[in-house]
Amino acid sequence: MPSVPRHLELHPPLVNGSGLLCFLEVFQHLDRQRAALGGYVTKSIGPEGRPGNVAPVVYDTGHVMLNSLALPTQPIESWIEDFRSLPVQKPVIGSVYGNRVEEWPEVISRVEAYVAGIELNLGCPNYVPGETSLMTVVGDSPAMMREVVGLARAATAKPLIAKLSPNTDYLAAARIALDAGADYLGCGNTAGPGLAIDIEAARPVLSGISGGLSGDAMRPVNVKMVYDIYREFRAPILAYGGVSTWRDAVEYLMAGACIVGLGTCFAYRSTRQMARLTRQIWEGMQRFAGSRDVTHLVGAAHV
Ligand SMILES: Cc1cc2nc3c(=O)[nH]c(=O)nc-3n(C[C@H](O)[C@H](O)[C@H](O)COP(=O)(O)O)c2cc1C
Repeated sequence: MPSVPRHLELHPPLVNGSGLLCFLEVFQHLDRQRAALGGYVTKSIGPEGRPGNVAPVVYDTGHVMLNSLALPTQPIESWIEDFRSLPVQKPVIGSVYGNRVEEWPEVISRVEAYVAGIELNLGCPNYVPGETSLMTVVGDSPAMMREVVGLARAATAKPLIAKLSPNTDYLAAARIALDAGADYLGCGNTAGPGLAIDIEAARPVLSGISGGLSGDAMRPVNVKMVYDIYREFRAPILAYGGVSTWRDAVEYLMAGACIVGLGTCFAYRSTRQMARLTRQIWEGMQRFAGSRDVTHLVGAAHV
């Protein structure tokens, strides 16, 4: 039986993207600084703690960032301790991943009592060299995608976001994710991966060799992803990728997103500056929408 879509109540329809400054302590600061975010997304939580790659893990030109963090995260017990002891005012979305198919529902069942929704990280393009990561292949494997989303659906009755990779056949992946019970599609994770070379040292800059692309330069890639997926499915979309102004956020709404996430633009900012930026973005979105609600902009670019 197809599942009934579940909704996230996020006012305003803005969140942070998983990965950058996304711990409970930071969310508490953002609450206090009156950030115009309707909810918060955690760093991706896995079955166990892991260090990821050693530095350097970030290469940043100001227009584009490459990261090869490879999902460093604190142990799940420590996440649960934080959920219990560090309350926040906005709904928290738990981003989760597994190294093996069966680990996804295991992680979900441990965190789902503490969150308003679950975001499945189904497409991280960076990994520790030599490691075989499920994350890099799940998006290209219809069978695995169906199994992971189906198991996740069975593990939670809360809103489920399938965050896809722009680097795969995302229309096929979106169809499977929706059929398997996802309520939202996350569009999307980092692009590429790309590679930067330190020409003086004559070697790759990143210790992980290549890294996922984020920031301003990748926005058109994910705007197209949102546009294509909305045109095909008219499904609720949570968009990520290179948003740093209200114009960028409106662009994603018009492409078909109903929620917009902010990631790389938060790098190098204090929580006070992050909060100010979110207010500027939200004020600009509302000003642009005029007398109408911003939801009227969703899908407006589709003729
Ligand atoms: C340093 C860094 C770490 C990230 N870690 C995660 C992660 O743990 N889980 C995830 O789903 N996405 C992760 N992402 C992807 C972002 O959530 C987002 O999808 C992507 O960066 C595009 O948005 P942006 O250009 O606004 O950053 C990470 C991105 C960056 C730059």
